Parts: sequence; C-alpha cells; structure tokens
Amino acid sequence: MSTKNFDLLMWVSSILCLICVSYGFDPIDNYLIDCGSRTNEPVGDRIFVGDNSDSSILSTPQKILANTTLEITSSPYNSTLFQTARILDGPSSYKFPIKKHGRHWIRLYFFPFIYQNYNLSTAKFSVSAQNITLLKEFQIESGPQVKEYSLNITQSNLTLTFTPSSNSFAFINALEVFSLPDELIPKSAQAIVTDNNYSLSNKALETVERVDMGNKSVYPQDDTLWRLWVSDDTYLIHNNLAKFVSNTTAVNFTTDWVTDIIAPSSVYGTATQLDSESDPNTKANVTWRFDVDPGFEYLVRFHFCDIGSMSSSSISFNVYINSMLVVRNFDLSSQSGLGVPYYRDVITRSSDSLKLNVSVGPSDIGNSYPNAILNGLEIMKISNSKGSLVLESDLKKSSKMKVGLIVGLASGMFIAVIFAIILFVLCRRRRRRYAHVSHSKAVENFAPNEMENNSPNRAAIFSSSKFGYRFPFLAIQEATDNFSESLVIGVGGFGKVYKGMLRDETKVAVKRGFSHSQQGFAEFQTEIEMLSQFRHRHLVSLIGYCDEQNEMIIVYEYMENGTLKNHLYGSDLPGLSWQQRLEICIGSARGLHYLHTGSAKAIIHRDVKSANILLDENFMAKVADFGLSKTGPEIDKTHVTTAVKGSFGYLDPEYLTRQQLTEKSDVYSFGVVMLEVLCGRPVIDPSLPREKVNLVEWASKSLKREQLEEVVDPHLAGQIKPDSLMKFGEIAEKCLAECGVDRPSMGDVFWNLECALQLQGNERRSSCAGDLSSQVSHVNHLEISVSTAQFSVGDIAGISMSKVFAQMVKEDTR
Ligand SMILES: *[C@@H]1O[C@H](CO)[C@@H](O)[C@H](O)[C@H]1NC(C)=O
Ligand SMILES: *[C@@H]1O[C@H](CO)[C@@H](O)[C@H](O)[C@H]1NC(C)=O
Ligand SMILES: *[C@@H]1O[C@H](CO)[C@@H](O)[C@H](O)[C@H]1NC(C)=O
Ligand SMILES: *[C@@H]1O[C@H](CO)[C@@H](O)[C@H](O)[C@H]1NC(C)=O
Ligand SMILES: *[C@@H]1O[C@H](CO)[C@@H](O)[C@H](O)[C@H]1NC(C)=O
Ligand SMILES: *[C@@H]1O[C@H](CO)[C@@H](O)[C@H](O)[C@H]1NC(C)=O
Ligand SMILES: *[C@@H]1O[C@H](CO)[C@@H](O)[C@H](O)[C@H]1NC(C)=O
Ligand SMILES: *[C@@H]1O[C@H](CO)[C@@H](O)[C@H](O)[C@H]1NC(C)=O
Ligand SMILES: *[C@@H]1O[C@H](CO)[C@@H](O)[C@H](O)[C@H]1NC(C)=O
Ligand SMILES: *[C@@H]1O[C@H](CO)[C@@H](O)[C@H](O)[C@H]1NC(C)=O
Ligand SMILES: *[C@@H]1O[C@H](CO)[C@@H](O)[C@H](O)[C@H]1NC(C)=O
Ligand SMILES: *[C@@H]1O[C@H](CO)[C@@H](O)[C@H](O)[C@H]1NC(C)=O
Repeated sequence: MSTKNFDLLMWVSSILCLICVSYGFDPIDNYLIDCGSRTNEPVGDRIFVGDNSDSSILSTPQKILANTTLEITSSPYNSTLFQTARILDGPSSYKFPIKKHGRHWIRLYFFPFIYQNYNLSTAKFSVSAQNITLLKEFQIESGPQVKEYSLNITQSNLTLTFTPSSNSFAFINALEVFSLPDELIPKSAQAIVTDNNYSLSNKALETVERVDMGNKSVYPQDDTLWRLWVSDDTYLIHNNLAKFVSNTTAVNFTTDWVTDIIAPSSVYGTATQLDSESDPNTKANVTWRFDVDPGFEYLVRFHFCDIGSMSSSSISFNVYINSMLVVRNFDLSSQSGLGVPYYRDVITRSSDSLKLNVSVGPSDIGNSYPNAILNGLEIMKISNSKGSLVLESDLKKSSKMKVGLIVGLASGMFIAVIFAIILFVLCRRRRRRYAHVSHSKAVENFAPNEMENNSPNRAAIFSSSKFGYRFPFLAIQEATDNFSESLVIGVGGFGKVYKGMLRDETKVAVKRGFSHSQQGFAEFQTEIEMLSQFRHRHLVSLIGYCDEQNEMIIVYEYMENGTLKNHLYGSDLPGLSWQQRLEICIGSARGLHYLHTGSAKAIIHRDVKSANILLDENFMAKVADFGLSKTGPEIDKTHVTTAVKGSFGYLDPEYLTRQQLTEKSDVYSFGVVMLEVLCGRPVIDPSLPREKVNLVEWASKSLKREQLEEVVDPHLAGQIKPDSLMKFGEIAEKCLAECGVDRPSMGDVFWNLECALQLQGNERRSSCAGDLSSQVSHVNHLEISVSTAQFSVGDIAGISMSKVFAQMVKEDTR
C-alpha cells in the first residue's frame, strides 16, 4: 500500500471519526418506528423500523395499515415517514422496554390523510404515557405535525396508550422514543418572580416552541438530537428594531457544561440583536411573542452566544418574560468569552395571558452601549399537578353530553320562549295602562346622537377634516409628528397608540399595528368592520383608518383620561370616587349591552377588561378594542365554538373549558372589571401572598361571607353606603356565576348598577331594595316592554332609558 493511499485512508477515517464526534450521540434506548409500514425507512443517519414486523411492541385490537401517495412539500417535515400510518380502532398501546432510567423523548408524528373509508382528519383520541396525559380528545385537521414530550422514566417499561374517543379511532404515522443525555434537562430550575428552586424530576415536559434566532431554521438532520429549530421571524414583533446576524464559525464549544448536545453551533451561530448601529441612543426591546395555554408553568431556556457581532466588547442587557425581569444587566462577556455558548433556564407561569412575551433590551446602566442579543429559545410546558399537559376541561363528558346538553338547552329555551310570550302579553297589557308615561318620556329623552347615522358630532369631524374613513399615510404621519415616541400613549398587543392632532385640531388616538403579524391583520379588519357598524356614546368611535404601504392604522376619537385601569391602580393619577366608579361601570355596561342587543346578531366583545374601558374628559366610559370581537351565535344555536382568546384572569371559565362563546362570557369579564373597580387592584398580582394573587378568588370569598368591606379599595374607605356596596357586590357575584345561564344579561347589569348608584345618592330605596333574583324577573319583563318601545324609537341604549326603567319599576312596585 502506497503512502498516498495510507494518507487517504487516515484522512477518511479521521473525517469519519469527526462525524462520529459531532453527531456522536448514541442513545441507550432508541426506538424509531415507522408506523403502518411494512418496510424499514432510512431517515438521515437513522433507520425507522416498520411496525408490521415487530408485534411484541404494539398491542391493538385490529391491524390496519394505511398509506397514501400524498407527498409532503413546503414543510420542514418532508419525510416519507408520514406516508404510512397505523390506524388504531380501539384502545391500543405501545410498550417499550427501558434500559436507562431518566429523561426520554417521545416524539409523535401525525399527518392526516384519507385511506379507504378512514378520514384521518376526523380521528379523535387521547394519548398517555405512564400516568401522564399527553393529548386529550386530540384531533388534527391538517399536518404534518410532530409533538415532542420528555418524561423521566423510572420503570422498566414505557407504555404509550392510545385511546380513541367514542365512535372514533386513533392513528399514528411514526414515533421515536429515545433516552436523553442527562445534562440536557436539569433536575430543577429557578422560578422568576418567586426565585424558588423548582424541581422538575417528576414532571413531564412538552416542547411548545423551539426557535433559532437570526431568521434561520435548523432542520432535524443538522441537529445532534434530531430537533427542529424554527426560524424566529414569525414571532418577532418589533422587527424594525431587530437585526439578524450570523457567524457559525465563531462558535467555540470549550466549556464542559455547554456542548452541542444543548444546541448545535448552527443555533448558537445565528442571533437576533437590537439594531443600535445607526443610533447609539436606541432604547427599545426586541420582543418575540408566543402562544401558550393559560394556567401552566413553563420551562424557558435562553441560548446566548457572543458571536462577535456587537459594536462594543462589553455586552450588557436585560432579559424579560411578560415584562417581568429575568436577568438584569446580564453581562454576556463576563459569563462566557467570545464565541462561547451559554444558556439559562427559568420557570415561568402563563397564568395571566394566552401569550408569552420574551424580550431582550438595553440594560439600565447608563454608560453601556445599547446591546441585546438572543441566539435561541426553547419553551417547554410543564405537566400540572394532575399529571396532564392538556388544558383542563370536561371535554370527556362533552362528546356524549353535548347532545344531551343541546336537547336540554333547546327544551329549556322552548319553555323560556313560552314564558317570555306570556310575560310579553301581560306586559303589553300593563304597559298600555301607563304608556303615556313611559313611552312618551322615552321618546323625548332619546338624544339624537345616540343613533349612528345622524350624529352631528361625527358629521362635523368628517367634513372638517376633509377625509373619508380612509386616511392617507402622510396625514397620519403629520398628525403624529412622524410617530414620535414622545406621543406614545399606549403599547398593546397590536401595536403602539399615539396621540395625534389632525389639521383641523381634532385630537385623535392613532393605533399603529406591527406590520408583521398575521393575527394583527385579522384583528385590524375585525376592528374596522365592527367599529364602522356600531355607533354608540359608550363605544369608542372610529374616525378613520389607513392601510397604505402595508400599514395597519386605526384612528379613533381621543379619550382625554385614558384607560379605567390607569385610574384604578399602578399610576399616580388621583383615585376615582365611588360615584364616578359607578357611573363608569354603568356606561361601559351600557356600551356592552348595545353590542349584545343592538343588531340582529349579538356582537361578543371577547376582551372586556379595565384596560379596554376608556374615559373621556368628563370621565364618561367608552368601551374600546374590538379586535377580538365576534358575531354571536345564529338564532338557532346557543353558542359559538371558537379558539379561546382574550385576557387571562378575565376569561369566562365556561368559555375556557368548552370553547363555547356566548354574550355571557362578556358578562363574566365585566364582573371581573367590577371587582377591579371595587378593590382597586390588578386581576392577577403575583407580588401578593398566594391566596390573594387572583382577585376573583380572593374577592369571591369575601363576597360569599358578605364581608365585602374587607376588599374595598382603601381609597374608598368610608365613601360607600352599605346598601350601595351590597347591591354592587350582589351584581358582581351574579356576573361571576360559574354557569353562563345563571349570569344576568348586560341589560340587567346596568339597570341594577343604576340602583346601586341611586342607593348611594340617598334616593328612595323602594325601587332598588330587595334581592337581585326577584329584580331580575322584573327586569326581564320590563325589557320586553322596552324592546317593543325600541321598535318605534330606534335605540334601546342611552342614558335616558335607565330612567325610564327606574320609572317603570317604581310604577310597578306600587
Ligand atoms: C398501500 O395500501 C394498499 C392496500 O390498501 C396495498 O396494496 C399497498 O401495498 C400499500 N402500499 C405500500 C407502499 O405499503
Ligand atoms: C427535507 O428537507 C430538507 C431541508 O428542507 C432537505 O435538506 C432534505 O433533503 C429533504 N429531504 C427529503 C427526503 O426531501
Ligand atoms: C375529512 O375530514 C375533514 C375534517 O372533518 C373534512 O374537512 C374533509 O372534508 C374530510 N374529507 C373527506 C374526503 O371526507
Ligand atoms: C399511576 O397511577 C396508578 C394509580 O393511579 C398508581 O398506582 C401508579 O403508581 C402510578 N404510576 C406512576 C408511575 O406514577
Ligand atoms: C416489562 O415488559 C416486559 C416484556 O413485556 C415484561 O416481561 C416485564 O414484566 C415488564 N415489566 C414491568 C415492570 O411491567
Ligand atoms: C436547587 O435544588 C437542587 C436539588 O434539588 C440543588 O442541587 C440546587 O443547588 C438548588 N439550587 C439553588 C439555586 O438553590
Ligand atoms: C427521575 O425521577 C427519579 C425519581 O423521582 C429521580 O430520582 C431522578 O433524579 C429523576 N431524574 C431526572 C433526570 O429528573
Ligand atoms: C427571513 O427569511 C425569509 C426567508 O428565509 C425571508 O423571506 C424574510 O424576508 C426574512 N425576514 C426578514 C425580516 O428579513
Ligand atoms: C466569524 O468569526 C470568526 C472567529 O471569531 C472570525 O475569524 C471571522 O472573521 C468571523 N466572520 C465574520 C464574517 O464576521
Ligand atoms: C476556543 O476557546 C479556547 C479557550 O477559550 C481557545 O484556546 C481556542 O483558541 C478557541 N478556538 C477558536 C477556534 O476560537
Ligand atoms: C423593555 O421592556 C420592559 C418590560 O416590558 C420595560 O420595563 C422596559 O422599559 C422596556 N425597555 C425599553 C427601552 O423600552
Ligand atoms: C405581550 O406583549 C404585548 C405587546 O407587546 C402586550 O400587549 C401583552 O400584554 C404582553 N403580554 C404579557 C402577558 O405581558
């Protein structure tokens, strides 16, 4: 053998060796199964075994192998693994002998296709491993999808159980079970806010997001543990402030504790950083937004690596999750050298939102150059105390009970309709007797600007500003001083809100959406549609919008006094008096009542909260932010089924568990707002002792004990008359009733609030005393009479109407 050949051999073997080192992870337990396949399937350097041959692993009542010729394109999962599936027509389980105790990954591959008379999109099933619920009543309409779970397995077998829902079946395209290196997932991690040492040993984790920053994806074949890292650009919300950088060769794995097992160099070698090059005074955060399920804890792993892209050598920045500080003045250069990877784990709770925000921003040390960088991020959901990774709901009952429920509701409604007709007839008779009082009053009391088309105010705005609804972008730029940061009056999920001044000196609020979010665009459209349909003195008015140059800008009337929330807590604004608070509640209740009843189909706001109630210069309340609003159920249905959206803490528990939306969900949220108004504190305040964190839980206890004084905002001490307080508490309690059907309508709510106001104002108690339930029946029947009046007058909601109500009740109780 010549030396040349020998050299070549050496060279080849050293290359092979290198490959072994970099892709050297060889799991002790390693089960790769191509379900439903008769043959083995190589994928990269791994072989997935067809599960036809090895029946000892799978126990299932029937043997159905499905296949499709459908090819998967335009997806990171382009593998042929998805072209076969095992259909499980009954409870089935895969059992894997486990040699190494500790963390294992379970990856489930799903791709619904149609095979003979099985439409896999209709399959509905649950999956559990050991005692952990991984998926419950799961249905996948389109694919492909890969779910990844990590479990600490301490037994000698792992059993993965598939349980089809009644009258359905389960399926699986492929699955992976393999043991993980011990260093990958820690046994405990620090919780933010509380700083507690949180043990993960007996928790299951589900990978919710695995993101590579720098607008680049890393595919499984390029990852040491066959992970998929998706690009961050779809999550980024301040994209104009972000810069993507990349230098994979700069990554230097020299420390023992961060190896390419944690993340490959292709992840550490790309980053998204704050773009401060052009302006060393840049003060802004780079923020990513992710969807999460409420009520779960999450393990969040930040990957950092200084790849030499910063303009100065010292990098110091803050890291936030949901505006809570994770690390202050994090000094990357002192934690690790240039090119040395570093990661950090924290535990956070999603309790107050369906979104998880992650931001990096310049540190508050004055002299540092504004820098901030993030290279990768993983978000893992932690199983809850019930051993579940699925949003708790009584779905299990629902598939069978739904039919019963609908039948029940339908018959209930039938009775209700009959009852209403009887009341209506009775009422008409009564009403005739005093029609001359109420009806004529109603007519003279209706202000003309209650109605949309003939509002003199609005007409004035339009003619004077000479723009239709659609503003040119230039006009908006001019009005907001080219979106000057000094004019920012609010930052929301959708974008920033600026104070502006049109040429005719009309003050306006200009909401500018972040142009990159798809969700943003849907909400933008919804909001404009909703706002142009509805005009009411207690709903914020639309002045115009601008969609030039991909902008999503909405121009509203300017509300001098900002949000109700700001006046209740967390600011230095003077507190509101009880009387003012009641009037604000009445106003917003009226706005919502109009939404629910003002058109043929109810509009459900879906995001009622104190931050969405705005106050004008006279502290008159107007409901704002219709981005999530939805048209209510059709006449023949009782609810709308929809993905849960809204703000956690305000979410109707019934909506949360059933995803069924009715007007009563708004009523619940309004009940929460009432408590905020009464107690002057945030809905979720993690800084308080555990039993007080959740306002609703805390205040409800006092409500039940009728000890409401305990929770009243100290600013209101001594101001509230006991009767008024009791009434208010009663209404709030009704609004917060567990079941939607037990909650009053918004009409009942504002009428009763009106009573609470009268009780405060020394007025005669006759009409208002007594308990709400008997009042409610009054109101129901009164509403019928009023809504007949409505046909002749035009609009039911208005300040005058409640006087009419009160008048009628007074008449009625005599
Ligand atoms: C697909 O299924 C059909 C039966 O439905 C079978 O004849 C065929 O061999 C299968 N193809 C593969 C590649 O397994
Ligand atoms: C799947 O996609 C990756 C990257 O998109 C590509 O490198 C790979 O060759 C593809 N595999 C197949 C089987 O198409
Ligand atoms: C399969 O089921 C899905 C979801 O129910 C449905 O949208 C689709 O039309 C069905 N396809 C066929 C061919 O029946
Ligand atoms: C699973 O639950 C059963 C009964 O609920 C219990 O006996 C068993 O120890 C549990 N196993 C694990 C691994 O928690
Ligand atoms: C694990 O599975 C093997 C093979 O099915 C069986 O012999 C063994 O008893 C099982 N062990 C436990 C603890 O269930
Ligand atoms: C957290 O607890 C683990 C053991 O449960 C311990 O090894 C670790 O040092 C603790 N960390 C802190 C910061 O207390
Ligand atoms: C797995 O669980 C066992 C028993 O609860 C525990 O001793 C061990 O530390 C855990 N391992 C990991 C990696 O969390
Ligand atoms: C991110 O990368 C994609 C293609 O990989 C590109 O289309 C997109 O414009 C990039 N985004 C930004 C903000 O540069
Ligand atoms: C990438 O990093 C290496 C090592 O730090 C350096 O030599 C190289 O110049 C860098 N490349 C770029 C394009 O910055
Ligand atoms: C990696 O870091 C070590 C120690 O910090 C250093 O000696 C080595 O030169 C570095 N390698 C590269 C390629 O920068
Ligand atoms: C970054 O975000 C945090 C938390 O939301 C906030 O307190 C801070 O002021 C922001 N920094 C800048 C410069 O906007
Ligand atoms: C996430 O950020 C958006 C705007 O950036 C904000 O409106 C929202 O409240 C934040 N969510 C949480 C939970 O902080």
